[in-house]
Parts: sequence; C-alpha cells; structure tokens
Amino acid sequence: MNMTSGQFKKFCELVYSECGINLHDGKQQLLQARLSKRLRSTGIDSIAEYLKVLENDALELMNFLDAISTNHTYFFRESHHFEHLRTDHLKIWSAASSSGEEPYSVAIYCLEKGFRPTILASDISTRMLEIGQNGIYSIEKTKSLPPHMLKKYFQKGSDKWDNHVRLKKEIKQMVTFQRYNLLVDPIPSREFDVIFCRNVFIYFDNVTRAQITNKLCGALKPSGYFIIGGAESLNTIDHPFKYIQPSIYRKE
Ligand SMILES: C[S@@+](CC[C@H](N)C(=O)[O-])C[C@H]1O[C@@H](n2cnc3c(N)ncnc32)[C@H](O)[C@@H]1O
Repeated sequence: MNMTSGQFKKFCELVYSECGINLHDGKQQLLQARLSKRLRSTGIDSIAEYLKVLENDALELMNFLDAISTNHTYFFRESHHFEHLRTDHLKIWSAASSSGEEPYSVAIYCLEKGFRPTILASDISTRMLEIGQNGIYSIEKTKSLPPHMLKKYFQKGSDKWDNHVRLKKEIKQMVTFQRYNLLVDPIPSREFDVIFCRNVFIYFDNVTRAQITNKLCGALKPSGYFIIGGAESLNTIDHPFKYIQPSIYRKE
C-alpha cells in the first residue's frame, strides 16, 4: 500500500511535532516499510484510517513513534568519551539510551575506575527501554568490549540463549530506565554531573537541537559535562556551553 505525498507530509508533521525527528524526503521508503508493520500488527487496512487513529489513540501513537525511531547502538561505542568521567561524577544521565548499551557501558567503565554513579537511562522508545531493563544482549553488541570486562560483568547464555549474554545484577542495579521525550518532557528535578545525548541530534533540525540543548543545560550542575555523538556538533546553534573538544561541552 503506497502512501500519497500528502499523507507523507502529514506523517512528517506529526513525527516532527511529537518528537522532533525530521523525516526528509529520502525517508519516505523507510517510513513506508515501518508503517506497513504497524498496519499489519493493528489490522488497520488503509493509511488514511491509520492517520485518523494516530490522532485519537495515544498508545498507538507511542507504538508508531517506537516503530519509526532508529535505535542502533552497541557496548563501548565511542568509549573515548568515558575518559572525561571523574570519580566525583556520581549522577549521570544517558538521555537517548536506546536499548541500554550506552548507560551499561558507562556503569562498567566507572566500576572499573573504582566509583559507582547512579545512572538514569531514558529514551522515547518503550520497546528499547524494555530491552534495557531485561539486560540480555546478542554477543554481537559486545564486540567493542574488552574481553576481561565481558567475562567479569556478563553471564553467557546457553541453549536457546546461545550467542547471548546477560548483565550481572551489580551493573543492572546502577541503571534506572524511564521513558523521556527530549522534545516535550520537562527536565528531571535532580541535577546531573554528566549528560550523554549521543547520536540522536542527527535526526533533529537546528531549531530542535537548540531547544533540547538549552533545556538539558538546565539539568546539569555547574561545570557538568554535555556529551554528544562524534558525528554531531553544536556549531550550528546558539548554546550556553563551553566547548572542550569535539563532541564534549561543559556548563559554564
Ligand atoms: C541511534 S540511538 C543512540 C543510542 C546511544 N545514545 C548511542 O549513541 O549509541 C538514538 C535514540 O534516540 C531516541 N530518540 C529519538 N527521538 C527522541 C526523543 N524525542 N526523545 C528521546 N529519545 C529519542 C531513539 O528512540 C533512539 O533510541
């Protein structure tokens, strides 16, 4: 079932206003593929009807946003960022945590350095948060993890869990998962020493990047760190941070 250009425009407007993701023209095929899955799961047989459902059904809207978000991540991704973590960084927020590999990597790194922060892991996708809470991953995702850490912090699965690993309780206990929409939700009441907001700005335009950056600054303690993805930059927006080095910023 192909969508008309008018319907594509409506989906783009909806996604932009709900979560800030900018679906430009090249994304129509991706949207179409993910939409087909939602139509099959819901049993709705026309795109026009599905658009109407999205207007009135908050749960389906959440499922739809889940389906269109891109969640690729893995353990110890861009781990050079972790070198900025210090022993007095005891409150850390992974603000687009996807399925949990990022906050758990931070937890492992900190334990190895001899300190134990509490870590808030949040994402817009409840599907990803559930995976994070379960803490079971395919071995593929742990490829960048030094082998001695894999041995120390994970249990290897067997039988139907062959090729999977499960995080030990000690690490899981350090991370709390919570749904959080960067675009619309108010900042948490506690303040953080470090906020990771990596590899999500690529999906936003400058207006949304500026809005989110300024908001998250309010959730950092003075001198707190704001860390974005290596392929991202705040160069194109007005922001309150001091630049430290590529992708690393500090609150003044
Ligand atoms: C590519 S993953 C990045 C995961 C991890 N930070 C990393 O660098 O490996 C991007 C994540 O951003 C989330 N996301 C997209 N829009 C969001 C929003 N408005 N609020 C919160 N999370 C959002 C997606 O659900 C996805 O899990």
